[in-house]
Amino acid sequence: GVEETLVLVKPDAVDRNLVGDVLHRFEAAGLSIAALELQHPSTTLVEEHYEEHRGKDFYPGLVAFLAENPVVAAILQGENAVTTARTIAGETEPVNAEDGTIRGDLGQDTLEQADAENRALYNLVHTADSPQAAQREITMWFPDNA
Ligand code: CMP
Repeated sequence: GVEETLVLVKPDAVDRNLVGDVLHRFEAAGLSIAALELQHPSTTLVEEHYEEHRGKDFYPGLVAFLAENPVVAAILQGENAVTTARTIAGETEPVNAEDGTIRGDLGQDTLEQADAENRALYNLVHTADSPQAAQREITMWFPDNA
């Protein structure tokens, strides 16, 4: 059925002027933009967003990367939006992501490199991983929209 999902175009993609390319790929897959905003999220918002990773080695680097840096947050709407967006994003680690996906075509980072440099993995986008996560994240990033 028709669903909503939450997508973040992360600071590495914004910095590389890939926002249009990334959003185009979601639109070309039939997902429509229901909300869109360039944000400079607070540390608190990013910590809450990545709550499930709190305590992991990469958590501080991940939070630092997103907090206060420009992020394009979007609500995307369409048939099976959650799964569709995840498929188009590709595997978490860009080096393992298939051709034709956002991470496969536009990224090349590895977890090994990210961990060696104590920073977040540069994988261009975040997409909510379930309808429940999508609703939770939509409320967080678009409080007026929920
Ligand atoms: P995302 O889909 O936003 O969800 C969690 C994020 O944590 C993931 O994408 C990566 O950017 C990041 N991540 C996951 N594992 C690691 C790791 N081992 N080292 C650095 N960053 C990671």
